Amino acid sequence: MLGGKMATKIKTVFFCQSCGYESSKWMGQCPGCREWNTFVEETVKPASKASGKQSSALSTGEYNKPVSLSEIEMRDEERADTHIGEFNRVLGGGLVRGSLILVGGDPGIGKSTLLLQVAGNLSGDKRDVLYISGEESLRQIKLRANRLGKFSESLKFLCETNLSNVEEAIVRTKPEVIIIDSIQTMANESVSSAPGSVSQVRESTAVLMRIAKSMNITVFIVGHVTKEGQVAGPRVLEHMVDTVLYFEGDRHASYRILRAVKNRFGSTNEIGVFEMQEKGLAEVTNPSEFMLDGRPENASGSVVTCSVEGTRPILIEVQALVTHTNFGFPRRQANGTDYNRVNLLMAVLEKRIGLQLGDFDAYVNLAGGMKVAEPSLDLGICLAIISSFKNKPISDDVIAFGEVGLSGEVRSVSMGESRVMEAQKLGFKTCIVPKALEDKLKKSSKGIEIIGVASVSDAMKLI
Ligand code: TYD
Ligand code: MG
Repeated sequence: MLGGKMATKIKTVFFCQSCGYESSKWMGQCPGCREWNTFVEETVKPASKASGKQSSALSTGEYNKPVSLSEIEMRDEERADTHIGEFNRVLGGGLVRGSLILVGGDPGIGKSTLLLQVAGNLSGDKRDVLYISGEESLRQIKLRANRLGKFSESLKFLCETNLSNVEEAIVRTKPEVIIIDSIQTMANESVSSAPGSVSQVRESTAVLMRIAKSMNITVFIVGHVTKEGQVAGPRVLEHMVDTVLYFEGDRHASYRILRAVKNRFGSTNEIGVFEMQEKGLAEVTNPSEFMLDGRPENASGSVVTCSVEGTRPILIEVQALVTHTNFGFPRRQANGTDYNRVNLLMAVLEKRIGLQLGDFDAYVNLAGGMKVAEPSLDLGICLAIISSFKNKPISDDVIAFGEVGLSGEVRSVSMGESRVMEAQKLGFKTCIVPKALEDKLKKSSKGIEIIGVASVSDAMKLI
């Protein structure tokens, strides 16, 4: 026993709530993720039995033999159709059996509603689904379900927070899909810290992972996010699960965006767009129209640009408001896009085309509340700022996209064709694009004017 690690003697351990870093003493700043004030004390029991299980595979002779690629049998991954196109798209074409999917998002954004709808559709296909809620009573669930429509008998509900009871129910009923709402309410008896703490969340996820893999059950885990916008105990969880989906959106606006930030069975960055309605979430299959809805006519500081999320182009209106500053120190604000990026672009505009922005406040906003960090928005942001500064509206039927470099050059971006096609589909007449893409896009697109620009000042001359 003397040879054992010091750590096994300690009864309480401090965990960073942001990255799961473990320490025997409290620290102000986490050495792992450099966040401040994230350490919380948790009691843990030494995991003696669990580690014993791990090593026993060798002694029982059940160890895995290394194989070559040709020895691996391939079969097409069976994917279940959720009958929600936008949800299938984010998953990479449907639900893979035996996968563990984390759905994160702010409280009240619609996670339970979405998963109840998914559960309803899956059970409608005669799949056995078990919805386990630790947050709501059966009556509350029924109230919600009544708003959403009819549900089949193969969808079962359970109110439970004790993980061993959950496990028991799963083993007895052997469902094909389970939904855990939410992981923060689940408690594992072998861990003595409170539900929702890093070690509880981690242990519960590990148990659910074992269930998913050994019984080939698809498991959805709902996770609440902290005010910093991360699932509690997030990075630890993100490593463990197969797929991480974030459900986001402005609570005051009706649309919601489901985003895949990690996906072992499909591409990431794919998004699905939904609208919260009286009777649950409805798919938005034409997000560009949705984003451009209510766009002002002939207003200065408004430019339409195109971002690509996953494989889908979405048109977005960039708005800028540049006004004389009232205080000595000019204000800059960015909504929906990176604040530092906006600052950088303003510096480029000052230095490269001599726009005197020093005495001006500048507000940049992506209309519709979309959050986009893609550099292809740069040209749109620059043009919106210039347009507002000069108080000159840009024609309504123009879109602009391209990355802007520090010398004011406009650089090429990927998927130019699909961006132009999306613009054409929505009736735009002119695309301002990076010079490097001009020839290619002129060849590939008919009926829409393509103007290539090499620098921001070239683009400015157009307005
Ligand atoms: P919910 O799914 O409970 O959110 P979460 O599980 O992420 O906390 O959604 C709650 C919100 O959705 C609530 O404010 C009411 C609204 N809502 C509708 O607008 N229409 C509906 O049909 C349903 C079921 C909910
Ligand atoms: Mg909920």
